[in-house]
Amino acid sequence: MIRVAIIGASGYTGAESVEIILRHSEAELVYLTALPQECGAVGDVFPQFKGRCDLQIEPLDFDKLTGLADAAFCCLPHKVSMEFVPKLLGAGLKVIDFSADYRLKNPEVYEKFYNVKHIDTANLARAVFGLPELFREQIKGADLIANPGCYPTGALLAIAPLLKQGLVEADSIIVNAVTGVSGAGRNPSSKFHFPNMNENIFAYGIGVHRHMPEMEQIAGEIAGCEVRMLFQPHAGPFDRGILSTVYCQPKGKINSDQLSKLYNDFYSSEPFVQICDDAPAVKDVAGTNYCHIFVTCAKGKIISFSAIDNLVKGASGQAIQNMNIVFGLDETMGLR
Ligand SMILES: NC(=O)c1ccc[n+]([C@@H]2O[C@H](COP(=O)([O-])OP(=O)(O)OC[C@H]3O[C@@H](n4cnc5c(N)ncnc54)[C@H](OP(=O)(O)O)[C@@H]3O)[C@@H](O)[C@H]2O)c1
Repeated sequence: MIRVAIIGASGYTGAESVEIILRHSEAELVYLTALPQECGAVGDVFPQFKGRCDLQIEPLDFDKLTGLADAAFCCLPHKVSMEFVPKLLGAGLKVIDFSADYRLKNPEVYEKFYNVKHIDTANLARAVFGLPELFREQIKGADLIANPGCYPTGALLAIAPLLKQGLVEADSIIVNAVTGVSGAGRNPSSKFHFPNMNENIFAYGIGVHRHMPEMEQIAGEIAGCEVRMLFQPHAGPFDRGILSTVYCQPKGKINSDQLSKLYNDFYSSEPFVQICDDAPAVKDVAGTNYCHIFVTCAKGKIISFSAIDNLVKGASGQAIQNMNIVFGLDETMGLR
C-alpha cells in the first residue's frame, strides 16, 4: 500500500485527490493537511466524504509526516509549494507538486511570469514534467514530479503528434481555450464570482497568461526546436472542464485522413487519450482522466481540439497516474 499525504487538502485539487485515492486499491490516505482555519474532520470540510473517510485535516507537522507517508501531493499555490517541497524531499518522500514552481526550467522565466523569486532552484533539474504520454520513462525514476498545468495538459496533448513529427511551422501555433470556474481554485475573486460567471464568458490573461511559457517549453522539448505559441484563455459558466482549440500551419500538404491516422497511431497504447471523429465536449470527459481529441484541416490550417476535466486529467487524476508510474503500479489504478 502506498501511503499518501495531501498537503493543501482543503482546496479543490486536494478534494479531488481524496476522492480518487479513496477508490484506489493500492494507495491509502494517511495524512491530510491545510492552514489552521481550514482544519477539521474531512467530512465536515467536504460533506461529500461523510461516512467515507474519517481522517482529520490538520496543520502540517513535519515530524509527524516523516515515516508516516511514502508520497506527498502538494496541492498548494505557486510560491507556497517551493517552501514545502525541499523538506518533503528531505524526509524521503516522493513528491508530486501541483503548482507551477517546478515546471519551468529557467528561473528567470518563472520570476518574470509569477512575479516572485524562485527559492529552490537546486531542485529544478530534479523535477520531471508529469505528462505521462510524453515523459513516461523519466517519470518512472523520479522523486519530484512537476504535475502539468491544466491548460498545458489539454493543449500539448492536442498537438504533440504534430510537434514530434515536425509537421507544423514552429511559430504558427495558436491555442484558444475555455475553462470552467474550478480552474481558479476555491477562493472566489470578483471576476469568478457567481453573478459575473453565470450566463457569461470572457477572455482573460491576454498575451501574458502564466501557462504560455510552460506550453512553449514543453512543446520545444517535444519538437526538438524552439516553439512559439500564442495562448488565449477564456472562462465559461460551468464547474469543470477545459476545451482547447489549437490552430497551426502545416509545413507541407496534409489531409484530415492522414492526420487522423497519425493521431490514432501516436496514441494507440495510451489508456487515457481517445481520438474522436468529431469535436469533443467537456461533458463527455467530466469526472474522468480522459483527454478526447479531434484533429482536422480547414482553409489550409490544421485544427486540433481537446477536452479534459481540469481537476482530473488537468490535476489530481494526472497526479495519481504519475504516482502509479513512479511506484510501478498499473497506470490506470483508481482512475477507471
Ligand atoms: N484548479 C485547477 O483546475 C488546477 C489544475 C491544475 C493545477 N492546479 C494547481 O494546483 C494547486 C492547487 O489548486 P487548487 O485549485 O486546489 O487551489 P485552492 O482550491 O485555492 O486550494 C489551495 C490549497 O492550498 C492551501 N494554502 C494556501 N496557502 C497556503 C499556505 N501558505 N500554507 C499552507 N496551505 C496553503 C489552501 O488553504 P485555504 O483553503 O486555507 O486557502 C488550500 O487548501 C495550484 O498551484 C494550482 O495552480 C489547479
